[in-house]
Amino acid sequence: MATSGDLEKAAGVLRAGGLVAFPTETVYGLGANAEDPAAVARVFQAKGRPSDHPLIVHIGGPEQLGDWVEDVPATARLLAGRFWPGALTLVLRRGTRVPREATGGLETVAVRVPDHPVALALLSAFGGGVAAPSANRFGSVSPTTADHVRAELGDAVDFVLDGGPCEVGVESTIVDVTGDVPSVLRPGGVTREDLEAVLGRPLAVHSTSRVRVPGQHPSHYAPRARVVLVEPEQVVAEARLAQESGHRVGVLLPSAFAGVPVRAHAVVEVPRSMDAYARELYGSLRELDRRGCDLVVASLPEEEGLGLAIANRLRRAAGPRRSG
Ligand code: TXA
Ligand code: MG
Repeated sequence: MATSGDLEKAAGVLRAGGLVAFPTETVYGLGANAEDPAAVARVFQAKGRPSDHPLIVHIGGPEQLGDWVEDVPATARLLAGRFWPGALTLVLRRGTRVPREATGGLETVAVRVPDHPVALALLSAFGGGVAAPSANRFGSVSPTTADHVRAELGDAVDFVLDGGPCEVGVESTIVDVTGDVPSVLRPGGVTREDLEAVLGRPLAVHSTSRVRVPGQHPSHYAPRARVVLVEPEQVVAEARLAQESGHRVGVLLPSAFAGVPVRAHAVVEVPRSMDAYARELYGSLRELDRRGCDLVVASLPEEEGLGLAIANRLRRAAGPRRSG
C-alpha cells in the first residue's frame, strides 16, 4: 500500500513531467500533469493510444471544477454536488487551463473527482489536475490492481501507487452536460437510475463513448481471447461445442447456472450481485487470458443498475477486432 513517502515521490514525478499510475475506486489511472502537454503526450505513447482520444482530468474536489471549465451549468453543479467524489465524469466546455493535447483537440473536457483515498491524497500533494486514462494498453482490459498495471505497462510508467484492488471495477459513467439535455456517453459506476433520480428526468444513453470520437475500431475493453456472447441458457452448450472443436474455452458462467458442470478449459462463475460482478469482471477476463484461453463464452446481464455498464463492456469486448 502507498505510504506518505510514496505520495510525495509520486507528486514529484508528476511535477517533473513523468507518469504515475494510481488507484481510483473504478480502475487504475495512468496520470500526467494535465497542464503539461509533453507529459500528456507521454500518456498516449505509453498506452499506444491515438492522440485524438481525449483524457479525463482528475481533480481534488468539486469546488475546483470552475478552474478547469469555461462555465459550470446548473446541471453540472447538481451532479458534481451529489456524486463527487465518485464514479461520475462530467463533460463540459474546456477552460483555457486545459491544453488541447489533453482533450484530443476537442473544445470540451471530461472532469472527475475520484473516490479513493490514495487518488485524493495524490491530487492534494500534487495540487493540480491529473490527466489520466485507464492504465492499460489501448483497447485492452482496464487494470483493477497495481499488479495488472505493472504487468501491462512495465517501464512505460515512472511510478506505480498501490492502493489495493479497485472497489467498483468498471470505469466511471460519462455524462455530457454541455447541451440543454444531459446525455450518458458511457455507462459506468454511477447508475443511470441514480442519475435520473437526482435529475428528475430520463436520460438518453449512447451505448459507446465514441459519439464525439468517431472512426475507431469498436473492439475495446477486450482480453486477448476472442469473446462470444450468447443467451445465458446457451452458455454451457456453446462452451462444450467450442471446446470439442479444439478451442481452449474460458467461460463466464451466469449465476443462474452456478454449479452446473461445464466442459471447458477454464470456468469463472459470475457473482449474483452486480456490485461483485463489476468488481471482478476485468480480473476474470485477465485470468482467462492468463490460463491460455483463446475463446471466452459469456452472456449479458440484465441491463439495469451496474448491469448496464457490465453489458456495455462485454459487448465492446466482443466487438470486431483490428486486423493483424
Ligand atoms: O473511471 C474512469 O473513468 C477511469 C479512471 C482512471 O478515472 N478513466 C478512464 O479513462 O476510463 P479512459 O481514458 O480509459 O476513458 C475516458 C473516456 C474515453 O472513452 C474518452 O473518449 C471519453 O472518456 N472522453 C474524454 N474526454 C471527453 C470529451 N471531452 N468528450 C467526450 N468524451 C470524452
Ligand atoms: Mg480506458
